[in-house]
Amino acid sequence: MEYRRLGKSELNVSVIGLGTWAIGGKFWGHTDEAAAIAAIQKAIDCGINLIDTAPIYGEGHSEEIIGKAVKGRRHQVIIATKCGARFKGPDLVNDLTPKFIRKEVEVSLKLLGTDVIDLYQCHFPDPNTPIEETMAEMAKMKAEGKIRAIGVSNFDAALLTKAQKVAQIASNQVGYSMLNRGIENELIPFCLEQDIGILAYGPMGGGILTGKYKQKPKFEGGDARTWFYNFYEEPLWSKVQALLKELEKIAARHGKPVSHVAVNWVRQQPGIASALVGARNPQQAEANAAAGDWQLSAEELSGIEKTVSQTLG
Ligand SMILES: NC(=O)c1ccc[n+]([C@@H]2O[C@H](COP(=O)([O-])OP(=O)(O)OC[C@H]3O[C@@H](n4cnc5c(N)ncnc54)[C@H](OP(=O)(O)O)[C@@H]3O)[C@@H](O)[C@H]2O)c1
Repeated sequence: MEYRRLGKSELNVSVIGLGTWAIGGKFWGHTDEAAAIAAIQKAIDCGINLIDTAPIYGEGHSEEIIGKAVKGRRHQVIIATKCGARFKGPDLVNDLTPKFIRKEVEVSLKLLGTDVIDLYQCHFPDPNTPIEETMAEMAKMKAEGKIRAIGVSNFDAALLTKAQKVAQIASNQVGYSMLNRGIENELIPFCLEQDIGILAYGPMGGGILTGKYKQKPKFEGGDARTWFYNFYEEPLWSKVQALLKELEKIAARHGKPVSHVAVNWVRQQPGIASALVGARNPQQAEANAAAGDWQLSAEELSGIEKTVSQTLG
């Protein structure tokens, strides 16, 4: 496993991080708590030190599971959680008011069973709260020792510029995969220039880039793969299947699973500090961590570039 410094912070994160949205149990079907705890522990055994979560992942359930899983091993992990998002009925509300995030940090500390959060990230922009007020509160939390570093998520360059005037931003967590390349033109160059580490979420498109779906899967209503990841329906479904056929050839040459090609492509792009890969059980966690043991060649990376534009258009 390779480790990289996260922006200007003192955190050294594994290039493969563990995502725990699915184990929260909401939006990804039922969660098996024992399997989730085993997944986290296996990830740590395999060299993953970055665990990403959020209060909205199962409304506290994901954080609670992490708290149980890292008992006795807290010193081995960098816990990244988030603030500023909550559900009001079925609707997601973004609330980065100092009052709300101050309340949230205490709940997260308790659920995670820790006295400090390593990376505290604003989950989404909140257009109704001046970012300067949010960042001032985050800086206070850092000064008080409740959090070690400040991160954001789903921020664009303009908002990052404003936020950085108040507090040092270690990282920006954003969606990025072969199937989702919206950050390449503006955000990656900006983060590189400003030394803000990018944590890439959804590197396998919610699982489709593992190549495990040979037939179009049917997910229950509300599942993240029916609304957050749009690759499971036409026109993208067939295009992704064509892409996978090509990626499988590269994977076969290395004797590795195709998911490794997807994840390594992400973590080998400029500016990416870590690819956050979701896992629901120890088998998935172990398989995903092993992507950190090898890399795609420069030739393979440029070949993939051509294949992606031919198949996805
Ligand atoms: N900041 C944000 O707004 C935001 C948004 C989205 C995600 N995230 C973070 O990024 C993390 C990663 O993204 P993601 O979980 O959405 O998507 P992902 O990593 O692309 O896909 C994860 C899913 O793929 C399946 N999978 C994982 N490893 C596998 C393997 N080896 N073989 C077969 N299937 C496998 C699992 O689901 P099944 O077993 O159900 O197939 C797993 O939940 C999240 O967990 C979360 O921490 C953040």
